[in-house]
Amino acid sequence: MVRPRVLSGVQPTGSLHLGNWLGAIRNWVDLQGSHDTFFCVVDLHAITVPHDPARLAEDTLATAALYLACGIDPTRSTVFVQSQVSAHSELAWLLNCVTPLNWLERMIQFKEKALKQGDNVSVGLLDYPVLMAADILLYDAALVPVGEDQKQHLELARDIAQQRINARFAPRDASGEPISILRVPEPLILKQGARVMSLTDGSSKMSKSDPNEGSRINLLDPPELITKKIKRAKTDPVMGLEFGNPERPEADNLLGLYALLSGRSADQAAAECAQMGWGQFKPLLAEAAVEALRPLQQRYAELRADRPALEAVLQQGRERAAAVADATLARVKDALGFLPLPTDG
Ligand code: TYM
Repeated sequence: MVRPRVLSGVQPTGSLHLGNWLGAIRNWVDLQGSHDTFFCVVDLHAITVPHDPARLAEDTLATAALYLACGIDPTRSTVFVQSQVSAHSELAWLLNCVTPLNWLERMIQFKEKALKQGDNVSVGLLDYPVLMAADILLYDAALVPVGEDQKQHLELARDIAQQRINARFAPRDASGEPISILRVPEPLILKQGARVMSLTDGSSKMSKSDPNEGSRINLLDPPELITKKIKRAKTDPVMGLEFGNPERPEADNLLGLYALLSGRSADQAAAECAQMGWGQFKPLLAEAAVEALRPLQQRYAELRADRPALEAVLQQGRERAAAVADATLARVKDALGFLPLPTDG
């Protein structure tokens, strides 16, 4: 039986944090048993804002190593680097030519990031969701496991596939029925962890681009730093932790983190911490975070110590990914009417 495909990715910008893990990568791991899973390091996305060329390659390798350290198994999943499969850039161009500009101008992330960039906004930043659509559509992905912040981009990928490619260019079979060219993907956004908030402001998202390091816990932060960041995390004057009180976003966020990191259900965590003061709760949370990240950090160190092995994983991943991606690209080019390449023999 053919297993439905999954594709997802993370940008190799700076360090990956708890939001990337709990909102996305952690959910990828479970899908390996039931789906044909493809995970890419989206380095072409990382250059949509000014980047440091001296760090890009290392950050790309580090991100791939983190995927494996988090439990992605290269014998069950295809792990690869986006820029090494040229079909991503090529399909992005084809999709660019059918995507209305105003669909991109209304993307929330573009508006937020563009505000931060001032006068220096690249065309790439605006076009970023089209490249993301190409990433997904190339693999006929049925499911795309992401955090809440990517929902709008997923809707765009669906609209491009459905309205701009399938509806306009689908060839017909013998009985006149359209043959779909691109599979329309579904997002997979789990309730818990889909929106991990900043440690310094419970109403804004934990993000790599926040200039305040204390706002996030990076997956590779040493235990002392994790403890220090949690100690300094914003609190409120109320006693007892609780979920769902709109007046207390920090309590909701930190209690949610505690549940996820300690492996407790939301109800268990809420019952355990209902009467707890912040002074008692924070060391508990710090310990849960340190213990949850410890095995991941150990595996990461081992993986980084063997660069050839990591490169071999990516090389194999590139070959497997390119085989699927090139076939989809050929299908789209054919439907759009391009002159075919001459076939051998
Ligand atoms: P990126 O690199 O910003 O984030 C990677 C993944 O982490 C999730 N995430 C969060 N989840 C919960 N709480 C948070 N605070 C938080 N911050 C980030 C994101 O939702 C994402 O799932 N455009 C994408 C990368 C991408 C992609 C793709 C994803 C490119 N092509 C194809 C899926 C499929 C991005 O910038 O993610």
